[in-house]
Amino acid sequence: MTDTPLPFTPLIQGLPAVVPFVPPEALERRRGRPLKVRVGANESAFGISPLAREAMRLAVDQVSWYNDPEAFELRTALARLHGVALEEICVAAGVDELLGLVVRMVVEPGAAVVTSRGTYPTFSFHVGGFGGQLCTVPYQGDHTDLDALAAEVRRSNARLVYLANPDNPLGSWHAAAQVRAFLDQLPAHCLLVLDEAYVEFAPAEVFSPVETQDPRLIRMRTFSKAHGMAGARIGYTLAHRQVVATLDKIRNHFAVNRVAQAGALASLGDPAFLRGVVQQVEEGRREYQALADELGLRALPSGTNFVALEIGPPARRLLEVLLENDVFVRMPGVAPLDRCIRVTVGTPAERAAVAQVLRQVLPQVRS
Ligand SMILES: Cc1ncc(COP(=O)(O)O)c(C=O)c1O
Repeated sequence: MTDTPLPFTPLIQGLPAVVPFVPPEALERRRGRPLKVRVGANESAFGISPLAREAMRLAVDQVSWYNDPEAFELRTALARLHGVALEEICVAAGVDELLGLVVRMVVEPGAAVVTSRGTYPTFSFHVGGFGGQLCTVPYQGDHTDLDALAAEVRRSNARLVYLANPDNPLGSWHAAAQVRAFLDQLPAHCLLVLDEAYVEFAPAEVFSPVETQDPRLIRMRTFSKAHGMAGARIGYTLAHRQVVATLDKIRNHFAVNRVAQAGALASLGDPAFLRGVVQQVEEGRREYQALADELGLRALPSGTNFVALEIGPPARRLLEVLLENDVFVRMPGVAPLDRCIRVTVGTPAERAAVAQVLRQVLPQVRS
């Protein structure tokens, strides 16, 4: 260690040493043994499309070349899929990277930013990193509270508001018409980050045609969930071309490697695979619902690939006991959401393992 102060900015020096998530690998290292069931990070249990696997295998042979920084082929396919122009799509290393870019684009130190208290934390993490002032509103009936978010935007004069739809960690959703009405409530100077990481699993009412005419609406999608490519790190934004052109000024143009780009492109060409994943997730959600009924828990309705199981105050203890039994799940960090544990839909074998451990440990945790 040196005594000379390092030239970090005061903002960075003042940041707490936190990470958005402790990864399961770190838990394994800490415990000195592997996890048996990994149903905590909302990763897909259903693999990747065989077409994606083959495309990625071939791309590995060209990995000594730089990737296409314009992700041209992938953006062309996405433009066709969503009926938008190439200039309205920005590809990046997952929604997480896009969240950081949008925050960087809009947030100056001290600027107000609005989000829901307890929602997906990576957005807030980036807001902190750029010195934004986070203004949060509570959930209402286990849903993000759109009226309260809009009111908070007006009160704080925020220029950025975050909404995950469907939401993480509870899995609840709003219909597209409600999101549209929310956007209509926002002042002209406020951008809406609409994080649609789980949209493939959502009920039909959540889907709305992608429109990129309104520069305030920045939609984000990912290949991490339904496409099963979380470790490949690839996602994209659908937005007005002025927003995309501005992201182009600051993004890491070589962030998305060629293996990921090839896999994502091939996966788009395999809609039958995607439908199969969604069906398996729906089946898994029904199974968790039945398990909850059996165990006297409440399974919150979910439009995602996970289910929040309401257990009340013993939720944290249950999480610890599950981990002691080598089952990795997560739970919301703040009240009143922290009365639930959040369990990703695993394979049938993983679901059976979760069920077995829950049956075994719940009486002890409750007593
Ligand atoms: C709401 C939400 N947004 C974004 C992400 C991360 O997406 P990506 O892997 O594309 O960075 C997650 C992952 O759990 C999520 O729950």
